[in-house]
Amino acid sequence: MCGIVGYVGSDKSVEVLLSGLRRLEYRGYDSAGIAVIDPHGELHTRKRAGKLQTLIDDLDGLALANGATGIGHTRWATHGGPNDQNAHPHLGDDGKLALIHNGIIENFAELKRELLENNPDIVFASETDSEVAALLVGIEYRATKNLAEALRRTVARLHGAFTLLVLHKDEPGVVVGARRNSPLVIGLGDGENFLGSDVAAFVEHTRRAVEIGQDQIVTIRPDSVTITDFDGAPVASREFEIAWDASASEKGGWSSFMAKEISEEPEAIAKTLLGRIVDGEVRLHELDALGDALNDIDRVVILGCGTAAYSGMLAKYAIEKWARIPVDVELSHEFRYRDPIVNSRTLVVSVSQSGETMDTLMAVKYAVQAGARTLAICNTQGATIPRESDAVIYTHAGPEVAVASTKAFVAQVAAFYLLGLHLADVRGALSKAEISGLLEELQALPDQLSTVLEQHEAIKQLAGWMTDTRAVLFLGRHAGYPVALEGALKLKELAYIHAEGFAAGELKHGPIALIEAGQPVFVVVPSPRAQDSLHPKVISNIQEIRARGARILAIAEQGDAAVLPYADVVIPIPLASTLFEPLLAVAPLQIFAMELAAAKGLDVDQPRNLAKSVTVE
Ligand code: G6P
Repeated sequence: MCGIVGYVGSDKSVEVLLSGLRRLEYRGYDSAGIAVIDPHGELHTRKRAGKLQTLIDDLDGLALANGATGIGHTRWATHGGPNDQNAHPHLGDDGKLALIHNGIIENFAELKRELLENNPDIVFASETDSEVAALLVGIEYRATKNLAEALRRTVARLHGAFTLLVLHKDEPGVVVGARRNSPLVIGLGDGENFLGSDVAAFVEHTRRAVEIGQDQIVTIRPDSVTITDFDGAPVASREFEIAWDASASEKGGWSSFMAKEISEEPEAIAKTLLGRIVDGEVRLHELDALGDALNDIDRVVILGCGTAAYSGMLAKYAIEKWARIPVDVELSHEFRYRDPIVNSRTLVVSVSQSGETMDTLMAVKYAVQAGARTLAICNTQGATIPRESDAVIYTHAGPEVAVASTKAFVAQVAAFYLLGLHLADVRGALSKAEISGLLEELQALPDQLSTVLEQHEAIKQLAGWMTDTRAVLFLGRHAGYPVALEGALKLKELAYIHAEGFAAGELKHGPIALIEAGQPVFVVVPSPRAQDSLHPKVISNIQEIRARGARILAIAEQGDAAVLPYADVVIPIPLASTLFEPLLAVAPLQIFAMELAAAKGLDVDQPRNLAKSVTVE
């Protein structure tokens, strides 16, 4: 959702805010805006509908104003359309105060009514819920002459989820922030300090960051940071070092962040495994925080949304097979509204690249309240979901900037597989030799995946021929099924083409009616060496749809002779056993979707209507 950045330090606030917003733009790109206090104490704001570049092109002389205090925002619209008026910052206290907001203020209509009743002259310049907060802080500021106190009094009246940042021209050198169920992290500099929706906002300036807890208020000045709770009482905080490299979130020479991020998949898996496999055993010290709980659990529930949920589906197959524990996978937003059965013997594993997805956060909170043990699989340090969980396994995919997830997915699966093998070990479900053999297969994946990525050009050509395609189907069985779902999701997200993923066995129960002459169907073919007779079943499914005119695009093991007679195109992948094959089969589908979107002239990094980190329910 919206990206937020705040800065206090030297006279370069405009540059800092714009570079921070550039790194946060994946959170939303309906409009962007900044507010700065110039060296003469004047407050300037500029905001524009459209992508960040529109704002930059329209800055006029604002860069000259610069100044040492500023806030910046990139928006994903909720209340009010994406136009200049609804863009942030919003003003209060007769234009002396500027505020930016991420989240939703649920009682804004009531507060707005009250504001209008008590202040008949008040004029709302936008349709947003956020402006109500700006006006309220302004009123409180007039009463208190203290920005932190004014914000504290305001948040006490707000319902919903929010991160708010405010500055006031009468308090130059100060930015105050507040958060509830919405992300905010502090960056510590030398004579300068930062606030950001996530560490990407300031990682190019500092690697030192501080977490901010729920319902806390933070005041940054160039040489100090103060954190209190919503009652004004000081709270302790935890500093951490950002593991990401600033250059990792640069595009480099690539045509898009997505192209770069797909190319980084082998490294994302390797880094996620690094240091966690020692002498043929899994070492996940992170799980120490769960104590003996892993011995007692009788069920695992995996929660996630979008691509993350598909990594959870693969985890179900792996954990059940290896550790013999029942696993349920559920979309986070469906979970807590159906009175799920969760107790102290349930391990609830959330999976989220951003660690901020509101649906998943709320589901985790529900699980905590129900007494479950909670583990997060997350790619972003300092994020909210790990903070709310008993333990966290960080994936080390590095910053993922393209809105649709790619490298984070393979890193999530790698982390889940480590967890599955660890559980198998703890519970004695597999022998040490079996575990060590499977770990070897896992460690071979980065190199194998690199060879798959060498086919990028061939897949691009295929995509280039298919720009007029109106619908694509994806089929897979067992571990190939989540891959089919992910392939379809990528095509929808990036190329706006209708796409459906099906379990291959389900086809004959309905979806086969969709097949007509020329219908392209991607099929994820399991290895002919798989012991579970999956392969011949999928070959039969291929024959069934080919007989009805489908055009078969197969992802199959190199040299799989059984596929060749029936496939129009084969994308070969190296030999891997059933559970590992998805980590090789997904990249061709990601590349296909990306290249098809690019061939249609679409922005693959920032698809329409989407946001990377969805911080509203
Ligand atoms: C959004 C993104 C998806 C992502 C999903 C879950 O819908 O557009 O790419 O898979 O959120 O995000 P998370 O950060 O929780 O993994």
